[in-house]
Amino acid sequence: MRYIGALQSRRLMSTPESKIAGISRRMISAKAEQFTESVIREMTRLAMKHDAVNLSQGFPDFAAPAEIKEAARQAISDDINQYAITWGAKPLRDAIVEKFERTQSVRYDPEREITICCGSTEAMMAAMMAIINPGDETVVFEPFYENYGPDAILSGASPRFVRMKPPSSENPDWSFDRDELAAAFGPNTKAIILNTPNNPTGKVFTQAELEFIRDLCVRWNAYCITDEIYEHILYDGTEHISMARIDGMRERTIVINGMSKTYSVTGWRVGWALAPSGPTQAIRKVHDFLTVGAAAPLQQAGASALRSPEAYYGNLSITYAKKRARLLKILEDTGFIVYRPRGAYYIMTDISRFHFPAEDPRFASTSQDVAFAKYLVQEIGVACVPGSSFYHNPQDGASQVRFTFCKKEETLAAAEQRFGKLRI
Ligand SMILES: Cc1ncc(COP(=O)(O)O)c(C=O)c1O
Repeated sequence: MRYIGALQSRRLMSTPESKIAGISRRMISAKAEQFTESVIREMTRLAMKHDAVNLSQGFPDFAAPAEIKEAARQAISDDINQYAITWGAKPLRDAIVEKFERTQSVRYDPEREITICCGSTEAMMAAMMAIINPGDETVVFEPFYENYGPDAILSGASPRFVRMKPPSSENPDWSFDRDELAAAFGPNTKAIILNTPNNPTGKVFTQAELEFIRDLCVRWNAYCITDEIYEHILYDGTEHISMARIDGMRERTIVINGMSKTYSVTGWRVGWALAPSGPTQAIRKVHDFLTVGAAAPLQQAGASALRSPEAYYGNLSITYAKKRARLLKILEDTGFIVYRPRGAYYIMTDISRFHFPAEDPRFASTSQDVAFAKYLVQEIGVACVPGSSFYHNPQDGASQVRFTFCKKEETLAAAEQRFGKLRI
């Protein structure tokens, strides 16, 4: 598989798995050998080690909504403490289906077309394992959320990557070449992996783009697996359109979503997959034997969270728009070239103006972005994610790093203060 070497060479600061405790290669699965631990989550550990301001991993450092926490406490008191039905507690399935119909005008059957999982991470993996056969290809836009690499390896898919180009004077948004995308599809294409609003770029796919992708899915009889976890985090008047809403796509779309980002509860691990009953039957089987089910009381609390008033979702975007403006300004003033996101809560930046790598051997790396990220976390005291972790060929992300702004004002202010030491 073309992908393997690239993922291995993406290794950052962690110990190569084959060397852990002197275990010989024969004792580790070939699949597990092909990828490293998450770079994003590793950056959080490094931030803690160096007491750095953590703008790497996308989890809010502020409190979750009081009503949602109260609903979780209530569920435990009410003794909702045993296994839920493996494909999800009925109140949560009903709430998800109602909300999706309200926001996207597409109706799913809560009995046959939904699977609640341990986060959208598990939902994505279960969906891939449920549909992929040896020889199947998946089309993946890059830069991509790093989980999609290991998801492909573990499920046995061969990814075909299609590059998105950063915003430029001709095009204010991240864009893809339609011919390149069409060329990535073929008789072996099983699915395209879409993520809108997108991590790490902040791109929100338009109706016209989704229709173009739809035509390719129909032509090659492929699924679209669409990760919509940032659906409510939108700026500049953008609208989130689910691929399931595009004419002709409901029957070939698997919608992945979860509570983590919308309700600021990334540690709850509640996510789901909406899909027609055929793939859902397969997803449910995989899910059952992977995890049995997500935490029952938190599913119960999820049912009330999903019935939050409309104002809740509007306020979420307003809150994040302020944080986006704040971090954009901090990064620009520091000397980063910034790509303004239209959704989600990350800012991709270009670090070319900083003229790395530094002379200091402590930050030596084959990749400029990794050297820069090490320098930033150790010397400046701010953690980011090296751009290479979003590309199959690490060199393609060598001049980029990603920051998140899902943080308290104090955290952003602390980053601003520390960036004072960073010079172009
Ligand atoms: C695009 C995307 N999908 C999925 C996830 C993980 O979601 P969950 O917490 O539901 O597993 C993240 C987390 O950063 C993400 O950025």
